[in-house]
Amino acid sequence: MNEEQKKAYKKKYKEAKQEGVRFWPHIIYKDLLMSFAIFLLLVGLATFVGIPLEPKADPSDSSYIPRPEWYFLFLFEFLKFIPGQLEWVGTVVIPGLAIVALFLLPFYDKSQVRFWKKRKIGISIMGVIVLAMVGLTVRAVATTPEMEETTVASSVREQVVQGEDLYSVHCVECHGPDGEGGEIQGVEGLEGVTVKSISSRDEMYTRSDETLAAITNYGQQDLGMPPYGLAYGGPLTKAEIEAIVAFMRYTWDDRIELPPEAVIATLPAWEEGFVPSYEVEISRIVKRNCFSCHRPGKDDNNNYLMGSYEEILTTGDNVENNLIPGDLNSYVYQTITGNPILDPDTGEVLIHQMPLTKLMKEDYIKMFEAWILNDMPETVEEAEALMATPTPTPEPTTEEATEEPATEPTITPEG
Ligand code: HEC
Ligand code: HEC
Repeated sequence: MNEEQKKAYKKKYKEAKQEGVRFWPHIIYKDLLMSFAIFLLLVGLATFVGIPLEPKADPSDSSYIPRPEWYFLFLFEFLKFIPGQLEWVGTVVIPGLAIVALFLLPFYDKSQVRFWKKRKIGISIMGVIVLAMVGLTVRAVATTPEMEETTVASSVREQVVQGEDLYSVHCVECHGPDGEGGEIQGVEGLEGVTVKSISSRDEMYTRSDETLAAITNYGQQDLGMPPYGLAYGGPLTKAEIEAIVAFMRYTWDDRIELPPEAVIATLPAWEEGFVPSYEVEISRIVKRNCFSCHRPGKDDNNNYLMGSYEEILTTGDNVENNLIPGDLNSYVYQTITGNPILDPDTGEVLIHQMPLTKLMKEDYIKMFEAWILNDMPETVEEAEALMATPTPTPEPTTEEATEEPATEPTITPEG
């Protein structure tokens, strides 16, 4: 650039500066371009990235803490400083005034200077406001209580697993481990009441998911079914009830097949030589068939808790007899095969058959048998190690004990 050009340019610049740039159409045009670019960016992000959804809104979930988006948190926090009846001042008047002040800025700030060091008042006011906004936002984040970790199942599989767990704890005692129903035993107020099956075709074909969820939510109180929804005084959130319904639907409805990736490894059929572990097989059988009575909060179970490996081995009024390594005279084995424990002196029933109303599946009983004979391994590794080494051939008593319930008339405990 030579001197001539430089001069010409400077002159042009000076002229332009004196004339100024018109808001219409110059600035508007620039703004339009910029906002269009941002609009495209947002459309792109929404299409290709998306945002993760929160769990479905649940009006009965009292643990949910509603919060505005982060850029409104300062306002939200600001409200906390304003007494309840003056809320409208904080929500309408003050923000309204601030916006009006911004609108009117061109009319009261007519100063020609733009250099920041020369605009002490304006910069200071804005500085205080920005600092306050940042401070309030930080305070809002810091004082927000941790949201209770609600486990929202993210896949059908997780939902069914969660549903099975919840069903085992909340529903088995009246509806049975497989929803088969029958006579209720050991539930106060419903002793001897007979419930119909909730896993039958009839039930599954005539009840929609919504109906099942609704019944679980508010119960059928005239029939003895308690309400489970939080809103009705029960312990379960909407998502939890949905998980139970998913479990029921996918397990009991023969028209519906669980997507392959969602199948929970069902317990394998019993095979000769298989050694089950507590971790995988036994805990699962116990959860569905025993836990509804053998858990804390239930007083009529001889203090035998079956919630963990530790508990199953170390609790119970007859702890020394419940599980004896390698011994099928253990009370657990005897009672699950339908042989109540009798008082040696009087011949009276001390401990009933377990579960009280109906024996478990043959396969489950076999699992227990192998588990006890192999000294009750806890982990899969332990069980596998036992399988690798040739199993000690079962002593003759084993056969007898297994045969017993089938050949001898079962003593059915009445009451
Ligand atoms: C304290 C006992 C009890 C518990 C625990 C219980 N129920 Fe019920 N439930 C009943 C009774 C009684 C009925 C009435 C059924 C009948 O008359 O045959 C019933 C009915 C039902 C029905 C309706 C059957 C129909 O189609 O009319 C469903 C579904 C059901 N229960 C699901 C559940 C679920 C899921 C749970 C666990 C969250 C549960 N129940 C826990 C006692 C119980
Ligand atoms: C419907 C409730 C119910 C279910 C389900 C149930 N039990 Fe029991 N269990 C009881 C009661 C009640 C007792 C107390 C003794 C009695 O009344 O027979 C008991 C006692 C026992 C005892 C004796 C404990 C001791 O230390 O005296 C054993 C062992 C036992 N149960 C094993 C099992 C096993 C294993 C299962 C699951 C396969 C199971 N129970 C399922 C109600 C139940």
